[in-house]
Amino acid sequence: MSTIERDVVIIGAGASGLTAAHELRKAGHSVAVLEARDRVGGRLWTDNIDGAMLELGGQWVSPDQDALIGMLDELGLETYSRYRDGDSIYVDEAGEKTRFTGDIFPVAAETAGIMESLISRLDALAAAVGAEEPWKHPDAAELDRISFSGWLEQQTDDRIARDNIAMFVAGAMLTKPAHAFSLLQAVLMAASAGSFSNLVDADFILDKRVVGGLQQVPLQLAERLGDDVHLSTPVRTLRWDDDGVTAAADGVTVRAKHAVMAVPPNLISRVNFDPPLPRLQQQMHQHLSLGLVIKVHAVYARPFWREDGLSGTCFSPYQVVQEAYDNTNYGDSRGTLVGFVSDEDADGVFALSPEARKRKILESLASYFGDQALAPEVYYESDWGTEEWTRGAYAASFDLGGLSRYGDSLRDPVGRIHFSCSDIAGAGFQHVDGAIRMGRRTAQAITAVDHH
Ligand code: FDA
Repeated sequence: MSTIERDVVIIGAGASGLTAAHELRKAGHSVAVLEARDRVGGRLWTDNIDGAMLELGGQWVSPDQDALIGMLDELGLETYSRYRDGDSIYVDEAGEKTRFTGDIFPVAAETAGIMESLISRLDALAAAVGAEEPWKHPDAAELDRISFSGWLEQQTDDRIARDNIAMFVAGAMLTKPAHAFSLLQAVLMAASAGSFSNLVDADFILDKRVVGGLQQVPLQLAERLGDDVHLSTPVRTLRWDDDGVTAAADGVTVRAKHAVMAVPPNLISRVNFDPPLPRLQQQMHQHLSLGLVIKVHAVYARPFWREDGLSGTCFSPYQVVQEAYDNTNYGDSRGTLVGFVSDEDADGVFALSPEARKRKILESLASYFGDQALAPEVYYESDWGTEEWTRGAYAASFDLGGLSRYGDSLRDPVGRIHFSCSDIAGAGFQHVDGAIRMGRRTAQAITAVDHH
């Protein structure tokens, strides 16, 4: 067991922790990063599965994400556009499939009109509430006491319009049922991506990918940090007082002036704090939980849907796979589809045997793309719910009422312990962009204190 001394100990080598470490180093501080897993990247993980390079975790970059885009530039990483030429597909409740272009689904004209009006109401709310401090809006408590599904029911009797609008936040983003989070939480999700319209616009929100995979961001940051990144060192105990912190991990102990807890909020309590965190933090962290989504990868000999004039983009709130996209790698002759099975649908398919689950998921892909989708060369389900050091996907959000009740303290440090992850970001909330923003912000806060 070795003991080392550094200015700052960073717990977690995800995008947020490594950004904080990188920025602190640049500002002249010594750092040690302790990572529980035997790899860096956390929810970013580019891996080779049966000969196919797959993005098991986060992958897309949207044009408003300047912190991430700046980081890609700094590291010299190149991006390419997601394939999107041709028609998208919508499958309705009866299983009927329709081709369409643009953002508004091919539903009855009246339903489409209601969807557009809901989108503009949500755009107005997102603009008024903002991403950084939604809890400060005068109506925050009001907006936080109604579930998103409850609010949609108040707005319209058109169930199909509600199902479609709910999907953009519930299935596609927070990965919880729309009755399990508040309107305020949904509005934060929209505001953090610029607007609700942006959430609806796949070409915006899922615009670009990184050549070689997004895990290169943490891998390259870790490479620069060299021996100061320690793998397979889960932090078990964090002792803290007015003078400093001591992080005791498996195999190494770090004594430092500051600690950065760069882990998702649901994992904070995995660490024994000595003394315990204050009442407020102990309570607040219990109100934040990760959603659940299975990211499904299916690789085919060629992107057969393109020959049919299809973009690979498809949606249905009534399918097990609620959304799918062309996820073919840069320069690859094989074609890859990626689909998502979210929240209660994920519960449902996890109750099946692996073979029955695979069949059900591929049949859902086939309802969009035809029977050719049934026989991929490579098939893989990213299951983050079983990952001990994540426990869900994509990220954490508050339960009903939690955001307005606790938001104001969300990013506050406790003494010399700072918190940093995508789950507590404003802009870029739940995304790599937010992880990087929080890493920078945390590094600045520590640098500011230490220069006094
Ligand atoms: P992250 O969870 O990555 O890092 C925390 C680290 O702390 C982990 O490495 C963990 O092992 C470690 N740790 C935990 N407890 C510890 C302990 N006690 N001691 C030491 N280490 C500990 N985003 C996006 O922008 N575009 C996208 O397309 C997607 N898509 C997507 C798909 C899927 C399937 C997932 C799971 C996620 C996404 N995301 C995404 C979200 C994005 O990946 C995520 O928001 C960030 O990568 C989170 O980075 P953080 O550094 O905040 O946490």
